Amino acid sequence: MAESESQAKRTRNVRQMFNQIAVRYDLLNTVVSLGLDRGWRKKTAKELQLAPGGVVLDLACGTSPLAKDLDAAGLATVGLDISEQMMQQSPSELPHVLGDCLSLPIRDRSVEGIVCGFALRHFISVAPLLAEATRVLQPYGRIALLELDIPRSPWLKFGHRIYCHTFIPLAGWLLAEKSAYKYLADSLTMLPPHELLERCLQEAGFGDVQRFSLSLGIAQLVTATKLSTASPQLEAAKDQPPA
Ligand SMILES: C[S@@+](CC[C@H](N)C(=O)[O-])C[C@H]1O[C@@H](n2cnc3c(N)ncnc32)[C@H](O)[C@@H]1O
Repeated sequence: MAESESQAKRTRNVRQMFNQIAVRYDLLNTVVSLGLDRGWRKKTAKELQLAPGGVVLDLACGTSPLAKDLDAAGLATVGLDISEQMMQQSPSELPHVLGDCLSLPIRDRSVEGIVCGFALRHFISVAPLLAEATRVLQPYGRIALLELDIPRSPWLKFGHRIYCHTFIPLAGWLLAEKSAYKYLADSLTMLPPHELLERCLQEAGFGDVQRFSLSLGIAQLVTATKLSTASPQLEAAKDQPPA
């Protein structure tokens, strides 16, 4: 199956799954991350390092928890997600748009910041997502990618594995939908490796890439700055006459 076809199928499945668990998502998120996710999101808003008033796009915003922290930091935030049910559960009044991160309904160079929380695992390849991010960001715009991670130390890795494959599906079964939370635990294997993510950021036209390991390595935050010109590949593609 071609990659775009597989990605379209995965997006459909992911959308259906999040539509099903939307009502319980926030509660489950807090339970399975033991409340640590709140601190991670605050750090994401801080490390974006944008002045108040900057326009930020929250990709795969879900119920908008990250957007809320950006709003609290004075940033003008717009959320975007493929799941209408997730966005309907948002307790905030912040603007949000139904859309796909891989085909953003947003003008070129129109936002100063982009964040994406806990969604990289849902993409077969991060390159198309980063290409869209580069397109809509202004030169020197900032990106912050928050994701789960797998600890490096063998002992922590062992404990983390048990936690992900027993506690998380059990919490999902008790509070929502076991199969969905089994998928979320399994999806950890789909995390882009650190080096690959950093290389993809550079190839997409980002510099100043910084990685923060959070809570003993169970989460990660990667930030970067869009260089004044977009990636050479993107610029070359734009210069081609239409076929
Ligand atoms: C684990 S939730 C994260 C929500 C939120 N960012 C947070 O910090 O809690 C992942 C979200 O990614 C969204 N998503 C997955 N694939 C997407 C796509 N192709 N375009 C837009 N949203 C997508 C899902 O609908 C879901 O709301």
